[in-house]
Amino acid sequence: METNRLSSKIEKILNQQITKEADAAQIYLSYGAWADDQGFAGVANFLFRHSQEERDHMNKVMSYIMERGGRVKISAIEAPSSDPKNLQDCFERIFQHEVDNTNAIYEIVSLAQEEKDWATWNFGQWFVKEQIEEETLVLDLIDKLKIAGGPKATSESLYFFDSQLAQKEDEADLARDASAERP
Ligand SMILES: [Fe+2]
Ligand SMILES: [Fe+2]
Repeated sequence: METNRLSSKIEKILNQQITKEADAAQIYLSYGAWADDQGFAGVANFLFRHSQEERDHMNKVMSYIMERGGRVKISAIEAPSSDPKNLQDCFERIFQHEVDNTNAIYEIVSLAQEEKDWATWNFGQWFVKEQIEEETLVLDLIDKLKIAGGPKATSESLYFFDSQLAQKEDEADLARDASAERP
């Protein structure tokens, strides 16, 4: 009896998503370590929590594959590339990662639609919504950095930005709680 409710294509793209989420978690860990080294403890804290959220996303995809009788395959992830040049560069790179990830989610949803796999389509919608929130959050931080002076920001304004992120705990926790919920 066939108990795998996922097509081989869907199983493959979901397994690729596991690697993408793990990769994002690893990149944000490296940026967090860089931020801490630069003295931005608030930014580091924010990035470490964001990294944990990406791990939660990874687990969520894993659970879904298993729930549907599919086979989870864990692949290697690459070492993160070079450190950001400054905070602006750091958040711009994060934004680009999030946009790339949104596109990967759209691929999953499109394939699910094509195959009329409405269970996976529905599962994917949680991530569509999550990506809107993540992109908005990062864009908001890029805006704040712009106001602080962008690449020419003074150390006082960056100190203020960093302290603000240190206080952002509640927001990130809410997002993390949400990512632990079932779709
Ligand atoms: Fe994610
Ligand atoms: Fe993300």
